[in-house]
Amino acid sequence: MIKISPSVLACDFTKLGEEVSDIQKCGADMVHLDVMDGMFVTNISFGLPVIEALRKKSDMIFDVHLMIEEPSRYAKRFIDAGADILTFHLEAQKNPGELIDLIKSNGAKASLSIKPKTPASEVFPYLEKCDMILVMTVEPGYGGQALIPETLEKVREIKAEIDRRGLNVDIQVDGGITPANANDAINAGANVLVAGSSVFKAEDRRAAIDALRGK
Ligand code: DX5
Ligand code: ZN
Repeated sequence: MIKISPSVLACDFTKLGEEVSDIQKCGADMVHLDVMDGMFVTNISFGLPVIEALRKKSDMIFDVHLMIEEPSRYAKRFIDAGADILTFHLEAQKNPGELIDLIKSNGAKASLSIKPKTPASEVFPYLEKCDMILVMTVEPGYGGQALIPETLEKVREIKAEIDRRGLNVDIQVDGGITPANANDAINAGANVLVAGSSVFKAEDRRAAIDALRGK
């Protein structure tokens, strides 16, 4: 089953709670929360207090994408704030395996992400431990960019390795996903699609979510 995780980066932040409940009504499976520290990426978005506040208003699955240096410093606090799935970047963490264990022992699902230029094989040592792999389909930092087609080749490689080992690991894609390219991502092996602009900026959000699923 294909799951859709709209990124609030493209929503109207003056009414974040309503925006999140709106996409839930429109059929989203989870909500994608992009945390940026101005170090791992040049942009700064939002952090713990916003997620904590939103948690009180929403029962959706919180899919938290940490684009921060040394995420191990904050992982537990993001889980306590309400993260159900916690994604961090391989490029930002010295001992990814240890952090995956820490995330899982604190009751969240652990997900490992790679930027477009990081080879697919770098996640292979962690596949057994991970609940999900996030393959960035744009350079992280900003919403509204165009998907880099070569990144889907990495989705294919990771999917093949997961299947070869008989594992059950989700593959998420994030950045520039639209109804026009969602099928390419799904065919490559992705089963969780993040979409910011193409959901929140759509006139009919329900139709956009359905279209991303290929309905
Ligand atoms: C980019 C973020 C994405 C972004 C996706 O660094 O990780 O989640 O918000 O936005 P769109 O779908 O607009 O590319
Ligand atoms: Zn993201």
